[in-house]
Amino acid sequence: MKKIRKAVLPVAGFGTRVLPATKTIPKEMLPIVDRPALQYVVDEAREAGIEHFVFVTGRNKGAIEDYFDRAYELEYSLRERGKTEIYDELDAATPEAGTMSFVRQQSAKGLGHAIWCARDVIGNDPFAILLPDVLVKSEKSCLAQMIEAYEKVGGNIIAVDAVPEENVSSYGVIAPKAGRQTRSDGLIEMSGMVEKPKRKDAPSNLKITGRYLLQPRIMELLSDQAAGAGGEIQLTDAMARLMREQDFHALEYQGQDYDCGSKLGYFEAVMAYAVDHSEIGEGARALIKSHMR
Ligand code: G1P
Repeated sequence: MKKIRKAVLPVAGFGTRVLPATKTIPKEMLPIVDRPALQYVVDEAREAGIEHFVFVTGRNKGAIEDYFDRAYELEYSLRERGKTEIYDELDAATPEAGTMSFVRQQSAKGLGHAIWCARDVIGNDPFAILLPDVLVKSEKSCLAQMIEAYEKVGGNIIAVDAVPEENVSSYGVIAPKAGRQTRSDGLIEMSGMVEKPKRKDAPSNLKITGRYLLQPRIMELLSDQAAGAGGEIQLTDAMARLMREQDFHALEYQGQDYDCGSKLGYFEAVMAYAVDHSEIGEGARALIKSHMR
């Protein structure tokens, strides 16, 4: 079984649900307390052993590339002024040279198309996908939980979690095999999956969370994938085809996800990370309580 070393992070989206904040700032760079949302996602992947990151970017996303580069003037100035703690933090977060690739999605044709844009860098390796809109707060990183499952069962794995039935049409939704049977290790066998079903047609209330471990065969399937829900090339449709050829499991992971692409989800993420923050946690809890009065 090949080890999963690479991850694709699609970051080309406009962030229309949080405009005007995202008019000039990529949505992935919006701060959650003191770090861009994207940093949390990269940390989650690193904890799972990911060594190479492929960002699928678009116009106006230059800030992402700059963020992962060295900032010599800033680092010099921090050192001169003896601000070693923050300097060390920046230094530790800077990736090793050559471990990040940036490819462009030149037109917005959907998530499936965005992933396909990374095919040359992925080559013949199994890989992870992390949708950076989604932050997952958990004791062990969500992707690390998935890799652990992958080492047991191999094949393809997607993270899922239950949502209220009225929300299913906003997501990809899985059809568990023979009703809903979750094994003690959280793995679920599936008979299918569908992107953004109507509530009445949804095969379950288990949504696809935005974390995937896939075999490279998905790239071939994406190359001739027809447009699906919303007129876009959907990753879910190509995965539904892959499922007919290869082992495919869903994993009910341990943790809480936040959709930072929406106003309320973003606010909730900021709150959740603030109350647990080593420096401002206590103050944040007191402030939230005082605002509830
Ligand atoms: C994408 C996927 C969907 C998944 C969701 C998770 O949808 O297509 O299957 O459930 O992310 O956030 P999007 O949010 O891009 O519409």
